[in-house]
Amino acid sequence: MAGEVDSNELAMIREQIVLQGRQLKDLSQSNPTKVGILRDPELFSLISPENAIYNPEPKGLFRARTALSDHLAQKKRQVSPENVFLCTSTSEGYSWLFKLLCDAGDAILVPKPGYPLFEHLAVLEHVRTVAYPLEYAHASGWHIDVAALESMLASESGKEIKALIVINPNNPTGSYVRTREREAILVLCERHGLALIADEVFFDFPLDEAVERQSFIGEDRVLTFVLDGLSKRLGMPQMKLGWISISGPSGDVRRAQKRLELIADTFLSAGTPVMNALPSLLAQESAFVDKLLGRIRKNYSIYRTILEEEGSPHRVLLCQGGWTTLIESPALLEEEKIAALLLQQKGIVAQPGFFFDIERGVHFAFSLIIPPAWASAWCREYKELFDTLQTQ
Ligand SMILES: Cc1ncc(COP(=O)(O)O)c(C=O)c1O
Repeated sequence: MAGEVDSNELAMIREQIVLQGRQLKDLSQSNPTKVGILRDPELFSLISPENAIYNPEPKGLFRARTALSDHLAQKKRQVSPENVFLCTSTSEGYSWLFKLLCDAGDAILVPKPGYPLFEHLAVLEHVRTVAYPLEYAHASGWHIDVAALESMLASESGKEIKALIVINPNNPTGSYVRTREREAILVLCERHGLALIADEVFFDFPLDEAVERQSFIGEDRVLTFVLDGLSKRLGMPQMKLGWISISGPSGDVRRAQKRLELIADTFLSAGTPVMNALPSLLAQESAFVDKLLGRIRKNYSIYRTILEEEGSPHRVLLCQGGWTTLIESPALLEEEKIAALLLQQKGIVAQPGFFFDIERGVHFAFSLIIPPAWASAWCREYKELFDTLQTQ
């Protein structure tokens, strides 16, 4: 296998701490099943007489796709059940799309900073990732560097690029695709014949309702695939259900559907019990999203209060939505050394910026979904470590 398994020093320190029986304080925790959100056990029950029947539909059970289509329509996102493919997770959705859109050696554009998932998924499909930059401005937050995208696509190797991935909002920057950026991206996709893959797993978690955001579901100018799933939408990664919504010019959509159906038919991934449960699971979505949004907004404000008091050398970067926010801290030591000290001295796990390909400065990704009491206590301990380093 081409992918490398990373066993770095931080992982080793972490292992030692666990062996010593010390408690780890995961300030970057993004696993929704480990942040003390109480869920009704009934919700996870997949018992239904309908599960005794296996109907191998390549796109997933029609009833489940219809429920999803109706659910999205309530949010004014229109996709017909015919244009929905169910799979086990967004990650699997990506791998199907790489099989569909790329030959070995082709490339896809991915945002940087970004979650390191795509790199691994691409390697497994013999596809290359080419990173396009997002830049940070103090007053307005993160922006896609459209000029850099343009010049990458205009270059000789730009011909090997088959698709552009946008994460809306991006992880870990928390930035939605702005209207101006969306327009520029669509023009570039049209001009260079690229498919657009929009990952919207965090779309319904805006820090502020007024934030500028628009879903790519139903986008008809270019062949568009929107990825989502239960993992984030309902905080149920263990249920293993994700989906791809397709739209675009009708000829492109028809061709893509036919070939995607072949891929989906080969795997028939989505499990019957979770597909049968989808209508009742979706009915619980707004309660979960409301609860988590309350936490996300509270934690963001806790981090700002603690880290941005007068004279503080730390900054909470502007974040528009999602489950993570980036903290910029003084470069008293290298990022990796600070991460190691946080673990050794405080038992705090915090993902450093290099994990997301942030090249400059010292950054850490803080979770917005942990209980506010943890956020507050662990953030203060984080700050203490820097205060101690400063005085040494
Ligand atoms: C932006 C983004 N997309 C997709 C995923 C993976 O989601 P899934 O569990 O559906 O594979 C993650 C995981 O954190 C993510 O951050």
